[in-house]
Amino acid sequence: MIIKNPRLEISAVSKKQYPKQNIPEIVLVGKSNVGKSSFVNTMLERKNLARTSNTPGKTRQINFYNIDDKFYFVDLPGYGYSKMSKEEQITSGKYIEEYLEEGKNISLIILLLDIRHKPTEDDFLMYDYILKTNLPFIVLTNKADKIAITKVDQEVQRIKESLGISYSTILPFSSERKIYIDEVWKKIEKFI
Ligand code: GTP
Ligand code: MG
Repeated sequence: MIIKNPRLEISAVSKKQYPKQNIPEIVLVGKSNVGKSSFVNTMLERKNLARTSNTPGKTRQINFYNIDDKFYFVDLPGYGYSKMSKEEQITSGKYIEEYLEEGKNISLIILLLDIRHKPTEDDFLMYDYILKTNLPFIVLTNKADKIAITKVDQEVQRIKESLGISYSTILPFSSERKIYIDEVWKKIEKFI
């Protein structure tokens, strides 16, 4: 994939701020700190286009990254960050819901999970929600660099079984080591 000029078009907090262009949207969802914003940087080979942080709760708005007017990466706030105030959790939950409900240009949802852990209760809620939308999705088990390379397949398998999905919809990923990028682009390219 040749990327020329990816840019943050808007950080939206309401529907009326969503871009008007009807081009495909590839959406990143997942709990706080799982690596959604890092994923955007990794795929686009940009260090700091999307803001990332060690502290969960970095992304608070709906960030639309315009990729050469061909498609958007939509980086959503994370869920399940208990240290965020109740009010902030409700607000970011509302942003996520509003966006996914509107969803007229969503062509693919990418759910990021942490390869090291069982999906959380919130992950399952999100997963069920995704199934209900009937939209195409893939699951990426991120932070694959954190476990031994020989354990990656086994852990992907474990998460796959807990969600009850077919192998083709789940892949490992690592922003840290920049591995599995080609495989993920191959999936995404079918939807843009
Ligand atoms: P919110 O904006 O809070 O929802 O978080 P996010 O999902 O956007 O996570 P972000 O990309 O900000 O990453 C959170 C932390 O995890 C940062 O310190 C990243 O450097 C780190 N991180 C992201 N991806 C990976 C990965 O593949 N491996 C490792 N080891 N760390 C990662
Ligand atoms: Mg983020």
